[in-house]
Amino acid sequence: MSAAGSFQRLSPTQIRAMKSGTPIVCLTAYTTPMARLLDEYCDLLLVGDSLGMVLYGLESTIAVTLDMMIAHGKAVMRGVAKSCVVVDMPFGSYQESKESAYRNAVRILQETGCDAVKLEGGEEMVETIAFLTARGIPVLGHIGLMPQQVHTAGGYRSVGHSDGEVAKIRRDAEAIGNSGAFAVVIEGTVEALAREVTMSIPVPTIGIGASVACNGQILVSDDMLGLFNDFTPRFVKRYDELGKRIGVAAGAYAQEVRSRTFPADEHTFKRRA
Ligand code: KIV
Repeated sequence: MSAAGSFQRLSPTQIRAMKSGTPIVCLTAYTTPMARLLDEYCDLLLVGDSLGMVLYGLESTIAVTLDMMIAHGKAVMRGVAKSCVVVDMPFGSYQESKESAYRNAVRILQETGCDAVKLEGGEEMVETIAFLTARGIPVLGHIGLMPQQVHTAGGYRSVGHSDGEVAKIRRDAEAIGNSGAFAVVIEGTVEALAREVTMSIPVPTIGIGASVACNGQILVSDDMLGLFNDFTPRFVKRYDELGKRIGVAAGAYAQEVRSRTFPADEHTFKRRA
């Protein structure tokens, strides 16, 4: 493959092999400039359907479409040289049947050039994941708190507190871990359970609000950079406050425009002598 080709990037198979090694570093990216900034530091970049809330101001991920995911997947691919790129399958694009999931996953892979797709769901998605992976589509699973199920779950809340939830997540982890998925995101899940399933399944777990016991970690970049301030879940650590810094910069710009100190001479074209 050429220097610009996909084989420069970490493959889903290589991510799978990181089960027993150094923790897998993952972040979300939705745009070319952000992908360029993050690529060097990450093993995997996820074009998450969280972009619906983070970029588009939607209340949940439910209204995110396949076309939106493909547009942002293409943008991210333009900025990535080495990370494995995974694009989320949005709500409604994979639940109806394994055949329609296959058609939509093919669109994502062909139109974006990404390395894999992610879909949410436990036991009920095993057949679909097996169908996709047997036909050349690498899949990242997603269990625990599943944001696309916000309406049936009654909101966003951590899971694994009741015996019923523990049993369900055990079954989901076992099923997805053996479905052909190359790794599984485990979200908003109590530590003891995340640790137990991480030890029991053959593929890496990538945690978000699922403790340090997971084989890797992922956060929404805009959360950890302090760019998205609508709501900060307990599991987010802020590594910067870029939102506040943008406010300071915009305030300084506004003040200089109003006082006519910007643009200065060095920003101004003069007729050449
Ligand atoms: O959509 C997303 O960003 C995700 C991560 C939070 C795992 O699914």
